[in-house]
Amino acid sequence: MYVSDSLKINEKGHLTICGCDTVELAEQFGTPLYVMDENQIRSNCRRYQSSFDKHYKGRGMTVYASKAFNCKEICRIINEEGLGLDVASGGELYTAVQAGFPANRIHFHGNNKTEQEIRLALEYEIGHFIADNLTELQTIDRLAKEAGKNAHVTLRIKPGIDAHTHSFIQTGQIDSKFGFALETGEAMKAIKAALEYQNIDLKGLHCHIGSQIFESSPFVLAAEVMLQLIADVKRETGVEIEELNLGGGFGIHYTSEDAPLPYDQYMELVSAAVFQKCEELELKVPFIFIEPGRSIVGETGITLYEIGAIKQIPNIRTYVSVNGGMADNPRYILYQSEYTALIANKANQPADTQVTIAGKCCESGDLIQENTMIQNPQIGDVLAVLSTGAYNYSMASNYNRNPRPAVVMVKDGTPRVVVRRESYEDLIRNDL
Ligand code: LLP
Repeated sequence: MYVSDSLKINEKGHLTICGCDTVELAEQFGTPLYVMDENQIRSNCRRYQSSFDKHYKGRGMTVYASKAFNCKEICRIINEEGLGLDVASGGELYTAVQAGFPANRIHFHGNNKTEQEIRLALEYEIGHFIADNLTELQTIDRLAKEAGKNAHVTLRIKPGIDAHTHSFIQTGQIDSKFGFALETGEAMKAIKAALEYQNIDLKGLHCHIGSQIFESSPFVLAAEVMLQLIADVKRETGVEIEELNLGGGFGIHYTSEDAPLPYDQYMELVSAAVFQKCEELELKVPFIFIEPGRSIVGETGITLYEIGAIKQIPNIRTYVSVNGGMADNPRYILYQSEYTALIANKANQPADTQVTIAGKCCESGDLIQENTMIQNPQIGDVLAVLSTGAYNYSMASNYNRNPRPAVVMVKDGTPRVVVRRESYEDLIRNDL
């Protein structure tokens, strides 16, 4: 079984997270429950930043991709750790600003930012607009002019790199809704257009080649391709772009089969490639941003459920139904994502029973995992699903009008609620 740094088994045979007994957490806060290890989140932030300091002479910044998990408390933690914040909507932006996140460290993404969102970002004076298309560039310039401001813009480029990952989450190739294609000349045209706009300051170029990537070579290749583009732009326009954003996508453990590289190795290899390429192309070494989301929070979170029904279908399978499902974790129904599950109150017992973990939504595909091995299940057991810190709470829905679970953060063994459990009243709040 895969168990992450913050997960242990105590003398009662219960799973613990950051020193807290998960069975007690389930009793105290109810289930389904998202639990996150704050110490681990902070240590992940520090590992990235110290890696930059070590291999890239500190000339880079880690920007947490908050689509992985966004709420006010994570924005406060990320701020305290000194990272930047990637937001991909007005809602993520608003949450960050309400949490006191400094606007100059915010990077605003999205392939169809609305005028309202752009106005809000200009009002907050965010540090970086990551512009996706020509219409957007024009709109940013127009709205910046109206506001009497200059917008700092980075252009999202499709470098044409296939990162060998799940096809739904590949974004670097030409057939992607994100960014300007390199090989068609679209990227160069966009850069030249951006340089002409009066209220746009073109600061950087960005690429993001996919998610849950385990190899370092696609990142190295992307950095080299982007530096070549910076050199081409310098040759054609005389302007040397000084910021390079290499996106996120670093893989994590979901099961013991997964073998992510230590972050330090990515940083070491990418930094070495950047230094070498800059020398070759006679470029200044750019300031680098990276945007990890999943690898900052993914392994730090677990979800706790209660088992409410067990259905054995002879010679077919055993369904173990929990009091959550696709509404709090839509990743299995969307991507058939693999997870490690275990019975938290029997964590020291052998995982010798093959089951299919089902949710409670009215939908046959509402599963958390199929044909997975867990301890012998009984009604009332607490089931833990590991590595649910990224893209679970953030992608949760109210399908079947299930209230979203609470999020509990544990720091130094002490738990606290950072997002309250939704109530039925919350569900009808906007109903007229
Ligand atoms: N930067 C950009 C521009 C992105 O689009 C993303 C993720 C990231 C950074 C962060 O990538 P990460 O380090 O978290 O891999 N819902 C999917 C993942 C979608 C990722 C979208 N973009 C999932 O649950 O696997």
